[in-house]
Amino acid sequence: MRAEAGVELSMDSRNADLAEKITGLKGKRNAVILAHNYQRGEVQDIADFVGDSLELSQIAAKTDADVIVFCGVHFMAETASILSPDKTVLLPDIKAGCPMADMATAEAVRKKKEELPDATVVCYVNSSAEVKAESDLCCTSANAIRLIERLDAEEILFIPDQYLGHYVSTKTNKRIILWPGFCPTHSRIQAGHITRLRESHPNARVVVHPECQSDVIALADETLSTSGMCRYARESDAEEIVVGTEAGIIHRLRKENPNKTFIHVYEQAVCPNMKLITLEKVLRSLEEMAPQVKVPEDVRVRAKGAVDRMLEVSG
Ligand code: 13P
Ligand code: SF4
Repeated sequence: MRAEAGVELSMDSRNADLAEKITGLKGKRNAVILAHNYQRGEVQDIADFVGDSLELSQIAAKTDADVIVFCGVHFMAETASILSPDKTVLLPDIKAGCPMADMATAEAVRKKKEELPDATVVCYVNSSAEVKAESDLCCTSANAIRLIERLDAEEILFIPDQYLGHYVSTKTNKRIILWPGFCPTHSRIQAGHITRLRESHPNARVVVHPECQSDVIALADETLSTSGMCRYARESDAEEIVVGTEAGIIHRLRKENPNKTFIHVYEQAVCPNMKLITLEKVLRSLEEMAPQVKVPEDVRVRAKGAVDRMLEVSG
């Protein structure tokens, strides 16, 4: 026990030391640190803003910092570069990608568009800049239903998440053509996890992310983006909540709601890419001003149209 407490203490003091160095260097570089809700707890704690994909892209569009340190995955840093081309965008580990985003290439999307010339192409923000450049409109899990409902189009090609696309299709009369992409982390969550937790925690509410499979969504009380989950935890009278998404969000939920109980749905619902970002790498990225993410100008200009249309509607 003593040794464990000692390890914990030295970890805390190491993190405190790193946090102090990061804060000092952040000021010198005029940098802002953005962290997604799935980041490690200690990374969330040093960030200027923690949020979902929509909130982080709204901040990236408005910030007057010279440098954006994106604690998230590659497509998020690309979105920041699309919106703020004059800023330096740092992704502390360049290998932090999103396997779902990689399931749609620009070439495959172009081919599909030829097969479906009348379809409006809506891409989930979890997509590469090149795929965004092929799309009419971008969306996140927080605004997908609202945006698609407002579109003056009846046929929509939805890229790349088939589960989010299917969920949207249950909420609108528009014809949604699905792409066979999925999130490997959310796909680990099975309906059996929910039914077992409902038995062991009969009073708990169940919230899940729309990247979950349809049979999991069917068993939930609410289907919400990550910040939607944070809002629900704050505003609802639920005292015990089963959380069906990536594990990192539990840190924020517990921090913001110390009197409520949060049960993570499945210990293996952890995104290895999100976890690549560490305090050590955040500090190194600020020291070396690398690795940088910069979207080539011709792609950026075309991708920006799709992202701007999303932000216009979402405010
Ligand atoms: P949101 O935070 O927008 O709900 O996105 C979830 C996600 O999977 C990001 O990779
Ligand atoms: Fe991609 Fe899923 Fe990880 Fe989000 S949680 S970055 S969608 S693999």
